[in-house]
Amino acid sequence: MALTKKTARWLYRNCRESFAGKTVLITGANSGVGFKSAELMAYLGADVIMACRSGEKANAAKAALLREYPDARIDVMPLDLADLSSVAAFAERLRAERIDIDVFLHNAGVFRKPGQTTKDGFELVLGTNYLGAFDLAERVLPYLASLPHGVLFVNTISIIHKIGRIDYDDFFCRKRYGNFAVYARSKLCLAKYTYRKAQQYENKGVRIFMSHPGISITPLGANAFGPVVRRLSSVFGWIFNSPEKSALSLPYLMSNEFPPGSVVGPRGFLNGWGYPSRNGIARKVRTGGEELIAFTRALLARAGNRTDA
Ligand SMILES: NC(=O)c1ccc[n+]([C@@H]2O[C@H](COP(=O)([O-])OP(=O)(O)OC[C@H]3O[C@@H](n4cnc5c(N)ncnc54)[C@H](OP(=O)(O)O)[C@@H]3O)[C@@H](O)[C@H]2O)c1
Repeated sequence: MALTKKTARWLYRNCRESFAGKTVLITGANSGVGFKSAELMAYLGADVIMACRSGEKANAAKAALLREYPDARIDVMPLDLADLSSVAAFAERLRAERIDIDVFLHNAGVFRKPGQTTKDGFELVLGTNYLGAFDLAERVLPYLASLPHGVLFVNTISIIHKIGRIDYDDFFCRKRYGNFAVYARSKLCLAKYTYRKAQQYENKGVRIFMSHPGISITPLGANAFGPVVRRLSSVFGWIFNSPEKSALSLPYLMSNEFPPGSVVGPRGFLNGWGYPSRNGIARKVRTGGEELIAFTRALLARAGNRTDA
């Protein structure tokens, strides 16, 4: 599980300052890019909070990290994005216990869940990747802004957001469901929301960014289409970005000053491969954020969720 020599060299060249004393919270930290992000943080000396829906998986991931980094300080918190009462309880605990956070990486996400819904009855991919993330950010950002030091907040999107479309008349794609269409919409919505929030929080002590892993073989894609694709993924995974390389976006963001709302992801072909760099932002991400936020607030209010922020 130790980091590769190439990664260690890249970190040495690109992330000179120590992250010791910083607390980094990562959602979905038990698997894939989130797990590797947690490992990078432990390697760089930061304290890590793993916010995961499965206590069992989170504790197993924590144990694996502690075997490699015995001095690391790692905590686990429960958080299920597909259950808005869990999101509310998580945000409330941060507030009530005044949990100190320097960096908040919202990484958790799902792909290809046709026919499934969240606990609140929303289509699962949009409900988790966008509505859960929206509610999480709305509840957590005011708390992070109240901390006596600056905070970095990062939402994880996907290059697929570029092909995403939003149809407010059929937001959950009930008329025509497509795995990629729903996933792309969820990430486009998250990107538009994040970009708008980044402007709003510019002078409030929270710097808000987006990152994406490019194309990386993790359980997200490998498990999505059954055993054949899973087997092919394990054989051909090396063609794509390793989760470790994809995870470098976080230390890269922590080590650089970028304008609010910037997107960081692989710099290579189609932004799918390579070491991190600042990517361009599509016009459709920069526009329409207010309309989307108003629509989402109304949607959540109708579902009985009260986000006051
Ligand atoms: N891999 C790629 O090529 C790629 C490309 C573009 C964007 N992304 C994005 O990158 C992020 C990380 O994905 P990954 O590839 O590392 O996938 P992964 O290995 O499947 O990790 C996803 C993480 O999200 C967690 N999660 C899923 N549903 C959740 C929920 N309802 N509440 C809380 N946590 C939940 C998973 O928990 P469990 O282990 O319990 O399921 C897991 O820890 C995702 O946002 C994904 O959309 C990935």
